[in-house]
Amino acid sequence: KELTIGIDIGGTNTKYGIVDKEGQVVFQGSISTAEYNEFKDYFKGLANAIRQAIQGLKGEHKILGIGVGAANGNYYKGTIERATNLKWKGIIPLADMLKEEFDIPAIITNDANAAAVGEMVYGAAKGMKDFVVITLGTGLGSGFVANGQLLNGKHGIAGEVGHTSVNPAGRYCNCGKRGCLETYVSATGIKRTVYKLLADHLEPSELRGIAFDNLNTKMITEAAIRGDVVALAAFEYTGRILGMKLAETVVHTDPEAIFLFGGLSLAGDLIFKPTIRHMEANLMPLFRGKVKVLPSGLQNQAAPILGASSLVWNYLDNTQQKQ
Ligand code: BGC
Ligand code: NA
Ligand code: ZN
Repeated sequence: KELTIGIDIGGTNTKYGIVDKEGQVVFQGSISTAEYNEFKDYFKGLANAIRQAIQGLKGEHKILGIGVGAANGNYYKGTIERATNLKWKGIIPLADMLKEEFDIPAIITNDANAAAVGEMVYGAAKGMKDFVVITLGTGLGSGFVANGQLLNGKHGIAGEVGHTSVNPAGRYCNCGKRGCLETYVSATGIKRTVYKLLADHLEPSELRGIAFDNLNTKMITEAAIRGDVVALAAFEYTGRILGMKLAETVVHTDPEAIFLFGGLSLAGDLIFKPTIRHMEANLMPLFRGKVKVLPSGLQNQAAPILGASSLVWNYLDNTQQKQ
């Protein structure tokens, strides 16, 4: 059986899968990203994990290539560049390293761009030609498909909505700027909001007293479901900022739909309702009621893995055609 490997490198975890051409993930695993201070140690850990996964496969198989969706991945250079939420700074030639390690083609793109491809080929965007995927994890990623094609941009890094401004004098961002969207709208952003609300108001809240590192989206979601005023206010605030930003994003590319993927999007109505309400209220009237905001069809976290692996299948198809 012919298989490819898809890898999703996020700020906190790296997920990898072995995928067949129909998009079945025959094996899925993960390692920590954040735990490795040095890239070379991380690379060793990742290569070992992948080798083990391959060795564990039953039946005859051939691994044809590796696709990677990485935070700050560069599609044309095959690098990870100036990563916002990764500890490894500078330019990392990951595609070349993987090619050398496994002796098969390796392709890299931005993680959210990979998620958009996954959504288009295997997920809820099947058949759509114009849509946007927003990933809400450690950071905020975005991928744009226009006229049926992923937008790569001149430098291979198109789609960085997470670093557009919400407030130029606002929260400090790991990219070096201030007030970026992802400092408000992401798994980390909503935690910052909860902390701010707790500091500014004296309402009782079950989230009070929890250390920042121990707080997570799931806890905030569960508190909100129980009616916790701070948790509810945090979702309203997050949805308002996301909705206002989506109202801008929509006018750039006139999408059919915007898909929300990852951690924070699993909060369902808590995040979708305020987001849609504020998007509609801020949209140019011409666009109102036209754009759907939907959950990803691949919420099992496989969207970037599938998207990355499907870049490899595409690449293989194209090189075969040329031969
Ligand atoms: C990075 C993006 C990435 C996103 C999600 C942002 O901070 O700049 O490249 O897609 O986080 O990982
Ligand atoms: Na992107
Ligand atoms: Zn930023």
